[in-house]
Amino acid sequence: MSIAVITGASSGLGAIFADQLAQRGHSLVLAGRDETRLKAVAHRINQNAELVVGDLGTDEGIDDLIAHLGDRDVDVLVNNAGFGTYGPFAEVDARREHELVAVNVDALVRLTHAVLPGMLARGRGGILNVASTIAFQPGPYQATYGASKAFVLSLSQALWAETRGTGVTVTALCPGPTRTGFVDALGEDVSHTAIYRRLAAPEPVVAAGLRALDRGKAVVVSGWRNRFTSTFARLAPGWLSARVAGRMLRPANA
Ligand SMILES: NC(=O)c1ccc[n+]([C@@H]2O[C@H](COP(=O)([O-])OP(=O)(O)OC[C@H]3O[C@@H](n4cnc5c(N)ncnc54)[C@H](OP(=O)(O)O)[C@@H]3O)[C@@H](O)[C@H]2O)c1
Repeated sequence: MSIAVITGASSGLGAIFADQLAQRGHSLVLAGRDETRLKAVAHRINQNAELVVGDLGTDEGIDDLIAHLGDRDVDVLVNNAGFGTYGPFAEVDARREHELVAVNVDALVRLTHAVLPGMLARGRGGILNVASTIAFQPGPYQATYGASKAFVLSLSQALWAETRGTGVTVTALCPGPTRTGFVDALGEDVSHTAIYRRLAAPEPVVAAGLRALDRGKAVVVSGWRNRFTSTFARLAPGWLSARVAGRMLRPANA
């Protein structure tokens, strides 16, 4: 059976990726820190999924997941684990930002390096990297998070171009604000902001990502509203889209 690996599979989009990839008949490797929630996901999808418990913010956590995969044939890798921070850059917890880069960027790069050569040798496979609509413009008050997702978008597009014609494809999924634990984990109430006031349902986001991977698309932005705003962000000069995004993300007390 073909193997699909999902990071951050214990909740939110990752748990739904587990549902939808199990329905497609994949055998799953589910990675996350929270073993109880990973078990609950495996139980719900009624599959003997392999669970890899570890912190992808640490070298040890990434090494363990790569060692678990060994030289097995991975058909699909969903680099989904990630989190955000919120607040003026000078005031957010520097250690948490460092951890953010480790999970959102370093782990994704290392896992991609671990599976891509095997996919290319076999001439088939797909890597779906979960970026964000914040990747299309600077994100004041989520500066490091936005930069991490811009990295994911850029890397994915570059790898999409490198792998064309090989049977392997790389896609960046760019969700807008979505109803998952992500928003609560920002650590501050963001419901007053124009960005996080309205949250999309997560199931169609995941379906859009997998459809785009099937079609070999480089990038997919889920939802017409997000497609509209990200087009503006891409066309506008950086200083303008940064200022607009800053207004839409401004903390209540700033
Ligand atoms: N929801 C949104 O508005 C939104 C919008 C755009 C992009 N995204 C992106 O979507 C992806 C999934 O997030 P979500 O919305 O589904 O949020 P979520 O419900 O909070 O899920 C995040 C997942 O990442 C895992 N994770 C976080 N830190 C980790 C670490 N140090 N090591 C290993 N796993 C870790 C968590 O697993 P454990 O807790 O078990 O470790 C959890 O399963 C993220 O990359 C996020 O940036 C979300």
